[in-house]
Amino acid sequence: MYIVFEGIDGAGKTTQIDLLKNWLVDSGFEVETIVEPSDGDVGKLIRKILLEKRASNDITQKELGLLFAADRLELMDKISKLQYSNKIIISDRSFYSSLVYQKPQEWIEEINKFALIPDIVLLLDLDLKISVSRSDQRDEFENEEFLKEVKENYLELANTNPNFKIINGNNGPNKVSSDIKKAIAPLLGICKDGIR
Ligand code: TYD
Repeated sequence: MYIVFEGIDGAGKTTQIDLLKNWLVDSGFEVETIVEPSDGDVGKLIRKILLEKRASNDITQKELGLLFAADRLELMDKISKLQYSNKIIISDRSFYSSLVYQKPQEWIEEINKFALIPDIVLLLDLDLKISVSRSDQRDEFENEEFLKEVKENYLELANTNPNFKIINGNNGPNKVSSDIKKAIAPLLGICKDGIR
């Protein structure tokens, strides 16, 4: 099973991925987590560019899209192997991030054709105000106008892709976690308390 977390910056993906992973492990599953951008060479380059982007706009959305796709291509190989090993894969972001963050959409779709389709996409939907308020502690945040566009793009994807599940990210971490478990449990044949 390939589970993906998506959401605008500051949506709380990292916290929720940890909580979900612990719950699944306690329920007896083997779980592997992955992150996009990865910690490989291309992923490191992307993170460097994202940090420097504040100072320079030299890199275009198309170039960035290609880098994300290249990084993803490496990860897809890893994911396919993990799927054969019967492990649950939880990923922080996927090609859907490229679809909502980069442009133009048709072109991004084209260069990501190789990407595996997740079994479920947990979209942590967060109010922009909360996202922006969390931005004070971070240095790699997008501006509010851009985040608004990204949030709208996500909701549009959720409307057209049946594998999307919208989770209200404005609630406290425990409530968000419980909503996530409710969404995942039926897919794994377990109840919300994790007993198979
Ligand atoms: P991430 O580390 O997940 O940031 P955060 O924890 O703040 O959500 O992702 C870094 C940034 O990369 C984030 O702003 C989203 C962006 N991104 C894209 O623009 N395209 C992509 O394909 C991916 C995977 C991420």
